[in-house]
Amino acid sequence: MKIQIINGPNLNLLGKREPDVYGNQSFEAFLDTLRKRFSPTEIHYFQSNIEGELVSKIQEVGFSYDGIILNAGAYTHTSVAIHDAIAAIKTPVVEVHISNVYAREEFRHKSIITSKCVGIISGFGLESYSLALTYFMLKLQAT
Ligand code: DQA
Repeated sequence: MKIQIINGPNLNLLGKREPDVYGNQSFEAFLDTLRKRFSPTEIHYFQSNIEGELVSKIQEVGFSYDGIILNAGAYTHTSVAIHDAIAAIKTPVVEVHISNVYAREEFRHKSIITSKCVGIISGFGLESYSLALTYFMLKLQAT
């Protein structure tokens, strides 16, 4: 199984950025844990602060991978381009957030991309990514 994790803007600062909200661990350190936990699943990782690069990565993997786990960061709330990229591809996308966006500022309550995703996982810290991977694993086992 081939899964692409895509992280959007400011998520390169995990571990340093607002640790009370996003925790103390870098994504790279967590990725090691994920790869061990979900072995032999191939987990690819991409992060960008640039909207168009996120769109290009979604297009690149969106016809061949088994799943995309997308944390679009702040673009979740603003990006029609990312919404359209998800609508254009065949690979199912799970939207994840580290924090519980519904317990935060009102501008975070609206996601432009959820309607094109399989579902949304929000508020479980970095384990939001594990829950999304578990979904893809169970889906594969069921087929
Ligand atoms: C986030 C929530 C977004 O509102 C925010 O802009 C982020 C991170 C999360 O993972 O909790 O950058 O997607």
